[in-house]
Amino acid sequence: MKQLTIAIDGFSSCGKSTLAKALARKLNFIFIDSGAMYRAVTLYALRNDFILGRHIDEAKIIASLPYIDIRFELDSHTARPEVILNDENVEKAIRSMEVSSYVSPVAAIPEVRYKLVNLQREMGKFGGVVMDGRDIGSVVFPDAELKLFLTADPEVRVQRRYRELLSKGEQTTPEQVRKNLQERDLKDSTRAESPLIRTADAIEVDNSHLDQDEQLELILKLIGEKFNINR
Ligand code: CDP
Repeated sequence: MKQLTIAIDGFSSCGKSTLAKALARKLNFIFIDSGAMYRAVTLYALRNDFILGRHIDEAKIIASLPYIDIRFELDSHTARPEVILNDENVEKAIRSMEVSSYVSPVAAIPEVRYKLVNLQREMGKFGGVVMDGRDIGSVVFPDAELKLFLTADPEVRVQRRYRELLSKGEQTTPEQVRKNLQERDLKDSTRAESPLIRTADAIEVDNSHLDQDEQLELILKLIGEKFNINR
C-alpha cells in the first residue's frame, strides 16, 4: 500500500517546518522542506551576482537552472535533512536575512518553480512524505491524503522568527523581520504562478497559542482519527 502524503502549507514562519519535521520523525516519514529549495536557488543567484541591489536578472537565473543541483542529505548528528547545493552543504547559508529578502521574487519565476516542483514530486513519489511550503496541497501533491493549512497571528510569527534568527547568530531586528514577512506573504499570495492559497480540502490550524508539543499532539490525534491509525 502506498504510504500517506502529508502537505503542509501556510504563510511565512507559521511553524510549518517544525511541525513537518516532528511529524516525519513520529511517523517515520521523509521530511522535505520545499522552501529550502527556493532558498538554495536564491543563494546561487546571489553568489553569482544575478541579483544586484533591487535588480534580479531572471534570464541569467533561468539559463543557470541546468547547473543548479539541489538535494537533501541526512545530518548524521541530528538525523535532519540538510540542503546540498552543487555538493556544498548550504543549510545555514540559506537561512540568512539576505536570502529571505530575495527568495519570494525568485520563487515567482515560472521556470524556477517548474524545475523545483518536478524535483519535489520525484522526491515524494513513493509517499511516506511530509512536505511543507506554499503550493504543496494545491500544485505539487493535489492528491495528498492530508492537507494542513497553518496560520498564526502575524506578531507571534515575527517574534518566533526573530528569536530563531537571533539564536543562530544572525544580526537583525524585529522590524526587519516584520517587514520581510509582510513582503513575502504579499508576494507569495499574489504571484501569478502557484500563489499560496488554502485549498477547500485543507484543514486550517491556527497555532498562535500552541507550543510545538501541543501542535504535534493535535495533528497526530487528527491523523489517528482520519486514518484510523493507532500510535
Ligand atoms: O520558513 P519560511 O516560512 O520563512 O519560508 P520557507 O518555507 O523557507 O520559504 C521561503 C520562500 O520560498 C517563501 O517565502 C516562498 O516565496 C518560497 N516558496 C514557494 O514559493 N513555494 C514553496 N512550496 C515553498 C517556498
